[in-house]
Amino acid sequence: MTSELAARPRRMRRTPALRRLVAETRLHPAELILPVFVREGIDAPRPITSMPGVVQHTVDTLRRAVVEAAEAGIGGVMLFGVPEVRDARGSAVDDPDGILNVALRAAIDEVGTDIVVQTDLCLDEFTDHGHCGVLDAAGVVDNDQTLERYRSAAVAQAEAGAHLLGLSGMMDGQVAAVRDALDAAGHQDTGLIAYAAKYASAFYGPFREAVDSQLVGGDRRTYQQDPANRREGLREVRMDLAEGADAVIVKPAMSYLDVLSDVAAESLVPVWAYQVSGEAAMIEAAAANGWIDRRRVIEEAVTSIKRAGADAILTYFAMELAGWMREER
Ligand code: PBG
Repeated sequence: MTSELAARPRRMRRTPALRRLVAETRLHPAELILPVFVREGIDAPRPITSMPGVVQHTVDTLRRAVVEAAEAGIGGVMLFGVPEVRDARGSAVDDPDGILNVALRAAIDEVGTDIVVQTDLCLDEFTDHGHCGVLDAAGVVDNDQTLERYRSAAVAQAEAGAHLLGLSGMMDGQVAAVRDALDAAGHQDTGLIAYAAKYASAFYGPFREAVDSQLVGGDRRTYQQDPANRREGLREVRMDLAEGADAVIVKPAMSYLDVLSDVAAESLVPVWAYQVSGEAAMIEAAAANGWIDRRRVIEEAVTSIKRAGADAILTYFAMELAGWMREER
């Protein structure tokens, strides 16, 4: 009776060598991007409590971190600036002496084009109210005024040497506006990564501590997407592609694998996914309690993101994953 089974999938799972041979998804360091925080006005790196192992770098320790990232062979770093002084219009974002632009020049000075250096282009780290844009008289984020700030930030970041800019503010028309400003300033070669499908997510919680920024009022639901909406993710992607995005990001990752899969099926440019701070924090917290196997869960989570269609993954575990991959080879 049992000998008549038409198929025995277990055959190909029998040994590690067989499993390795038939694995459909494989991770490579080159498709990992490490988010990095740089804080102004500190002389030693500061730990971020809710993100064990992640720090706010000084400009000096950032230099070391990007060199290590290049040596590890990961695909890129994504820089976030944490300024000392904030104001309503986020003045530090387009100030050449603003922390993000200073950090960019330092990073590029160390690694040149050996590894891709990109930025998170947004205002929330730089505004005193914590929103991703400037506010109108009624306290609502003003889309078109914000585009003006993004245009200026983009030119400053391109001038500081960024290879790619990650547009994470979720303003309508941001890709077209920034593309236009860059081209007008002679920065045709600076690429634009659109956070195309970015949801108003509670999984960004620990990130607020990482950039020392809290919303003074309201929430981000008037510009980031409603987690209830799958089709809308595709709409945002189509718009960003039409505006000239060179790659698109889905964010967060693991709770949005359906959106990621839709986007991967549709996009002709690279599709990335961002495993955000809260996704990492949940793993760390459970692992610290001994409730899960930390390494296996990290590998499984990132593999599932790739399996769903991500060409590259932004993850706080990028360096650790690259180390494990080296061990295995
Ligand atoms: C916006 C930005 C955020 C994150 C990356 N870029 C926060 C937000 O949109 O509220 C979150 C990343 C993370 O949680 O790891 N500048």
